[in-house]
Amino acid sequence: MTRPPGGAAGSILLTGGGGRLGRELLRLLPGLVAPSRAELDLTRPASVGRAFGFHRPAVVVHAAAFTDVARAERDREECWAVNVRGTAAVVREAARHGCALIHISTDYVFHGSRGYYREDEPPGPVRNYYALSKLAAEEVARLAPRHLVIRTSFRPRDWPHPVAFVDLYTSQDYVDVVAPDIALAIVKWRQIPYDTLHIATERKTAFELARRRRPDVRPGRRSEAAVDLPEDISLDIARWRGLKAGWLGEEGPG
Ligand SMILES: NC(=O)c1ccc[n+]([C@@H]2O[C@H](COP(=O)([O-])OP(=O)(O)OC[C@H]3O[C@@H](n4cnc5c(N)ncnc54)[C@H](OP(=O)(O)O)[C@@H]3O)[C@@H](O)[C@H]2O)c1
Repeated sequence: MTRPPGGAAGSILLTGGGGRLGRELLRLLPGLVAPSRAELDLTRPASVGRAFGFHRPAVVVHAAAFTDVARAERDREECWAVNVRGTAAVVREAARHGCALIHISTDYVFHGSRGYYREDEPPGPVRNYYALSKLAAEEVARLAPRHLVIRTSFRPRDWPHPVAFVDLYTSQDYVDVVAPDIALAIVKWRQIPYDTLHIATERKTAFELARRRRPDVRPGRRSEAAVDLPEDISLDIARWRGLKAGWLGEEGPG
């Protein structure tokens, strides 16, 4: 555990600090307090309570989740226990400690047939069990007295596949591109006048995204995939662009 001596009241607690996004956030915001899973296990509510009691955070960034989409279909109990009941445990402790919750969610809460989804549109119908659990987790997160739901989408730093689809549109980007924006939102959360925010980049095909880091990637089509993939899961990111432009304007030139 990254533990300030005695637990500094007013800290920012991060769940999932060992994950892809969590590691980037810790690099960008080294002051975050990130208990390991052994110290804060979402499936053991008492351990969540102990971590909150020790650190007395002012804000919790809840990035931990069961994220294996294929395994979620088989291991539904575990996926639900981590994503939904685990989020409920975090919400309970956040409420008890007067702590604000920044909940990390996903573009997968949308069906992905039309694209440019806005924050205030109704989500669903979801395509898989992981998405169902993350949608339920969002609604649980909204029970926290002070909350911000950030919907995002990212890939590891390098495109991991030899093929990328030309008929799949997305706003996702590489984790090292998206994480700095999420870190900015964490730092500025008090100045965000919304309870839901999409943080991603412009709409593009998965193939276009893949080529940026893997020039030899081959074009493929969604019909080749073993799972049901959305055709256009892109997010409307106007809210986030507006906030960022406003903050940069405040800083003034140079
Ligand atoms: N990856 C994507 O494409 C994507 C897209 C949109 C949204 N998101 C969301 O972004 C967040 C971060 O995703 P990621 O890809 O960075 O995840 P990841 O790499 O799979 O890491 C998941 C993290 O959650 C922790 N975790 C899992 N079960 C736990 C439990 N029972 N108790 C405590 N911690 C537990 C893991 O702990 P260990 O380190 O011990 O394994 C790990 O640190 C998630 O909320 C995810 O739903 C991800």
